[in-house]
Amino acid sequence: MQSPRYKRVVLKLSGEALAGSSGYGIDPRTLVSIAGQIVEVVARGVEVAIVVGGGNIWRGVAGSAQGMDRATADYMGMLATEINALALQDALEKQGLEIRVMTAIEMKEIAEPYIRRRAIRHLEKGRVVIFAAGTGNPYFSTDTAAALRSAEIEAEVILMAKKVDGVYDSDPLKNPDAKKFSYLQYIDVLNQGLGVMDSTAASLCMDNKIPIIVFNLMEDGNILRALMGDNIGTYVGEVRQ
Ligand code: GTP
Repeated sequence: MQSPRYKRVVLKLSGEALAGSSGYGIDPRTLVSIAGQIVEVVARGVEVAIVVGGGNIWRGVAGSAQGMDRATADYMGMLATEINALALQDALEKQGLEIRVMTAIEMKEIAEPYIRRRAIRHLEKGRVVIFAAGTGNPYFSTDTAAALRSAEIEAEVILMAKKVDGVYDSDPLKNPDAKKFSYLQYIDVLNQGLGVMDSTAASLCMDNKIPIIVFNLMEDGNILRALMGDNIGTYVGEVRQ
């Protein structure tokens, strides 16, 4: 059997991914199906760390656009990621995986504090680690948390799970002629504002040479396909994989 191309990965799950078609809250069936895909990958011996977003519950940027203090709105977003992390932990445990939720904001009654060396140890022991509360700082997105944690734990790739099958030159939902990129350099993402991730996250990936694969999570088996090096989605890196 072909082995996966990567040994240690960070999977970035947006909050919206957990909401299913409703767009809000947590859809239990979606959660089960995502968990199933993760089980498949762990069974191949891949070390998986997950950074989960919170946009299905609360978006800091949206709150601040409506007049709320930005830092407060961002902290609310971080709390939303904690809810998602616990839901994900539950779904993954029900499928037999060993999970450790690590939070960037201390709340020791419900999750372990984030300690880098401990996170690495959990991964080495075959546990899935879920990173909650982003970086623990306002003004930083959970995409940036994914980039930061990837650098810290020396992940080989960030799997950016989306509801679309890659990066396009314009919105494929609005423009039927939108062109999908199979490969992009970090600098293209930054210069063209392609919306893969925000610029803080993209530059962190560029500076630390962490490749990103953007792919459609909604297609069953895609996490494994991305890890096997199948040509799905868009690969962002220094050189074509
Ligand atoms: P090793 O013993 O190093 O293999 O790791 P372990 O995670 O199994 O050991 P530990 O005794 O640290 O943890 C046992 C359980 O307690 C795990 O489910 C942890 O997630 C949980 N745990 C550990 N530290 C904390 C904490 O600060 N807060 C919370 N809520 N749970 C914790």
